[in-house]
Amino acid sequence: GQVPVITVDGPSGSGKGTICQLLARELDWGLLDSGALYRLVGLAARHHGVELDDKEALVVLAAHLDVQFIATEDDTVQIVLEGEEVTDAIRTEAVGKDASIVAAIPEVRDALLERQRAFAEEPGLIADGRDMGTVVFPEAALKIYLDASADERAVRRYNQLINKGLGASLQAILEDIQARDDRDMNRAVAPLKPAADAVILDTTKMSIDEVLAAVMDEARHKG
Ligand code: C5P
Repeated sequence: GQVPVITVDGPSGSGKGTICQLLARELDWGLLDSGALYRLVGLAARHHGVELDDKEALVVLAAHLDVQFIATEDDTVQIVLEGEEVTDAIRTEAVGKDASIVAAIPEVRDALLERQRAFAEEPGLIADGRDMGTVVFPEAALKIYLDASADERAVRRYNQLINKGLGASLQAILEDIQARDDRDMNRAVAPLKPAADAVILDTTKMSIDEVLAAVMDEARHKG
């Protein structure tokens, strides 16, 4: 039979990352953080001095991405790119922006497609991204689309940074989020949008626990 997959798509700051980690833990399933792959292509480009408008070189980088995802004892994942630990380095706003630029190149997306599908292993997979339900796992048993207002997503991001002791400007974060939404939703290939059969959850006024409970509820109904 087919490996069960739950796809979770949505814009940045919708809480996908947190929810997917909790779901994977709850169900004891694997986790695909597809955004990390696009971030890794962006970071690899920086390391190799590849310009973001050099499509051919970016496609080669994506196709040959030398990356390891190493599960650690405390249930987190270490990301190693070409032998170098980049777990935190790929999370910066700058790398996120680069990721959304390389992600708009259809051939880069193609180059990452099989690598993403290979994450589907027994007993199941939680797939986190923008096009998990629409392109990568169109046959998924359950498709979730998490949304939240741009203002709320900016506030969440702001609080994350402040809690880490980092300085942040709410206005700058909101502008970054709007620019990223715009690029992700309006690109020609695999734009961010809910799959026709997705369950859409607006998390603007929901807590993490409420979102998790709602998704687990859907999983039980479909299971
Ligand atoms: O989710 P995350 O912020 O890590 O994703 C970084 C960028 O990678 C997104 O803004 C988006 O442009 C791109 N992405 C994508 N398709 C995915 C996951 C991420 O295009 N499935």
